[in-house]
Amino acid sequence: MSACRLGAAIAALFLLGASALAASVEWGWTAGEPAQGASRVLAGPGVEVPLDLPKDFVKVLPASSVLVYFAPSCPHCRAVAKELEALDQWMATHLGGTTRIVWVASGNQSAIAADEFRQEFGITGQMVHDASGNIAAAAGWRSTPSAILVLNDKKGPVAVDGWIPFRPGLSTLVRMRLAPDPWAELAPGVYQGNNTCGGCHVDEMASWRLTLHSVAWRTLQEGGDDADPKCVGCHVTGAGRPSGWVPGDEALVDVGCEACHGPGGPHDGAPDDALASCVGCHDKEHSIVFRHDKAVPLVDHYAATALDEAAYTERRKALFRGEVPQELIAFPEGDTVGQGACAACHPTEVKAWSASAHGVAMRRLEGDAAADAGCVKCHATARRVGVPPAAEVSSYHVAESVGCESCHGPGGAHVAAGGGTDNIVHLGESCPVCVLEALCTSCHTKDWDPDWALEPGLEAVRAHHGK
Ligand code: HEC
Ligand code: HEC
Ligand code: HEC
Ligand code: HEC
Ligand code: HEC
Ligand code: HEC
Ligand code: HEC
Ligand code: HEC
Repeated sequence: MSACRLGAAIAALFLLGASALAASVEWGWTAGEPAQGASRVLAGPGVEVPLDLPKDFVKVLPASSVLVYFAPSCPHCRAVAKELEALDQWMATHLGGTTRIVWVASGNQSAIAADEFRQEFGITGQMVHDASGNIAAAAGWRSTPSAILVLNDKKGPVAVDGWIPFRPGLSTLVRMRLAPDPWAELAPGVYQGNNTCGGCHVDEMASWRLTLHSVAWRTLQEGGDDADPKCVGCHVTGAGRPSGWVPGDEALVDVGCEACHGPGGPHDGAPDDALASCVGCHDKEHSIVFRHDKAVPLVDHYAATALDEAAYTERRKALFRGEVPQELIAFPEGDTVGQGACAACHPTEVKAWSASAHGVAMRRLEGDAAADAGCVKCHATARRVGVPPAAEVSSYHVAESVGCESCHGPGGAHVAAGGGTDNIVHLGESCPVCVLEALCTSCHTKDWDPDWALEPGLEAVRAHHGK
């Protein structure tokens, strides 16, 4: 129960911080306060929760310790075991041993398993097997791994801070809590992972979890491309850089904070050049025409502050279901001139196209459907592209069906210049999965084309060009 009270005290502290909102509209973002949780990370929540731990355990408990509750076979515990042992070594060296880790093995598994865990991960500190479950009950632990900072003096043991659950990367926050010079622990130049940043940057972290960047790794996994070296670079953080992502690294998957802000983040007064990072991944091949003014508002760092819990959860679920609209940030915005303007110079393409399924798509709309913009939006080229679909049929080139500019973008400048390569979207160079699929599935939705597959679709489209 005690740890629950600690949790409640911490939550109350967060609420206090949230009431002092500062404006942050410079980037087209929602108002929010940067690094809202920083004081808690650096000074602790400022609460003391007495712990009714078993007497024989209190006797062996040091004056200050980090109690780590774990189960030997729990995969999350195994994932952080080395990090926690390194933290213990750091405490031994830098704090003169005044605080150490005490490992508490869950009674649900045997003492033998706990000992094997100790050997496997080279644990050097004190380990207790909580056979009766009394320690866990007194600390209020319900899941592993959990870590709490406990002081044990004449008054008896009190919990003063907690990291529940303990996630990869949180040892940096524990070091910052305990070190005489906390900021030195947020080593610039070393990748930490989002969990570290999120301890202080609470709103930024919650808002990042609403962006497609937070599912970039999942996207690759779903396509079975997460082991392909051609693909991982832009879908993780710091690949190919010292201390950056390597295969198997859980903390640095997805396009995390440090993919844009650099390892450790900019806390040393150095200029923050996050805006310069985008085109490293959103290059010509992977984003057709990347524009900051369109893209940066879509990574609003304080978007979460405007949502209640239900709306937040719903948006997260939609992200996992793949239902968050791909805003096609890459597609150029502008007026289309119509397929007739292309025929003079691209006769082969226009002839073949007019006879193809795309070229006759309007003929599929019988009766009222041809006058229904809700149908026409996918069966004809919009007079203006790169903007949300228009609600009137007059805003579409209904005579040409799905014409050239539905896929190649506005062609006015290209026509006026008599051709060229830098004034029209050349899809041939684009990464098919990163760019083309999003373009095609903006019309070939699950509802309208349940059997959609990219490669055969592209073959057909090449044929539609008369090739
Ligand atoms: C101990 C708390 C703490 C941690 C951990 C932390 N930050 Fe910060 N960060 C701050 C504070 C405090 C500021 C200054 C906030 C302000 O401008 O009011 C800041 C500022 C920033 C800024 C803005 C800098 C600028 O020049 O405008 C960025 C970007 C940033 N942090 C990124 C990160 C990243 C990335 C991580 C994780 C690797 C991280 N932070 C971890 C506390 C923290
Ligand atoms: C490390 C590579 C990387 C960097 C750096 C990067 N992005 Fe991305 N971005 C991606 C990937 C990968 C996706 C697609 C993720 C998915 O859908 O699974 C993406 C998706 C997006 C999307 C959503 C796409 C859509 O169609 O709606 C936006 C918006 C975006 N990025 C903006 C930015 C901005 C702004 C910057 C720079 C401030 C930036 N990105 C930096 C890799 C990156
Ligand atoms: C140079 C960086 C880069 C590389 C390499 C890269 N991607 Fe991407 N990927 C991106 C960016 C940027 C986006 C977001 C594009 C946008 O929305 O404008 C993206 C988006 C995606 C999407 C989401 C598209 C959608 O319809 O939702 C998938 C799937 C994807 N990439 C798979 C892959 C695969 C598979 C590979 C390897 C063949 C790969 N990526 C290699 C940068 C990259
Ligand atoms: C897609 C790239 C991208 C990612 C990922 C990203 N940021 Fe940012 N961040 C930016 C940009 C762009 C700005 C505004 C311009 C600048 O500071 O360069 C910014 C600004 C900030 C600021 C200053 C905000 C203010 O209001 O003054 C902080 C703090 C920050 N980011 C922290 C984080 C943290 C923490 C994460 C991870 C949870 C994160 N960012 C993830 C691109 C990114
Ligand atoms: C006055 C002649 C002319 C007109 C009209 C014209 N094009 Fe082109 N287009 C060209 C030439 C020439 C090239 C080849 C440029 C090169 O390879 O140097 C070209 C190339 C292209 C490319 C490939 C671009 C690249 O980077 O290789 C596309 C796509 C294209 N045109 C689409 C269109 C569309 C769509 C229209 C109608 C809106 C159109 N064109 C109208 C002359 C024209
Ligand atoms: C989100 C885009 C989209 C909208 C909206 C849309 N369609 Fe389609 N429609 C398609 C696509 C994509 C195909 C091709 C499917 C395929 O190749 O399997 C198609 C095919 C068709 C076909 C021929 C194949 C079939 O399923 O019989 C008809 C008829 C049709 N649509 C009618 C309509 C009507 C009527 C409406 C309005 C109620 C409508 N469509 C709205 C995208 C759309
Ligand atoms: C459904 C989307 C779509 C439509 C509509 C479309 N194209 Fe394309 N176009 C593509 C794709 C995808 C490629 C790249 C194909 C590849 O991978 O080789 C391409 C490539 C091209 C190229 C470059 C060929 C090369 O050799 O590099 C030209 C030129 C072109 N299209 C012209 C046109 C013209 C003219 C029209 C209208 C008659 C048109 N396209 C309609 C999707 C489309
Ligand atoms: C503006 C909406 C739109 C876009 C974008 C679009 N399509 Fe289509 N596509 C349609 C519609 C509507 C049909 C059904 C036309 C019909 O049945 O006459 C269709 C039909 C098709 C067909 C069936 C044709 C056949 O030969 O059987 C294929 C394959 C196809 N599209 C592939 C693609 C590919 C690949 C892309 C992306 C490069 C793409 N489409 C982009 C709307 C679109």
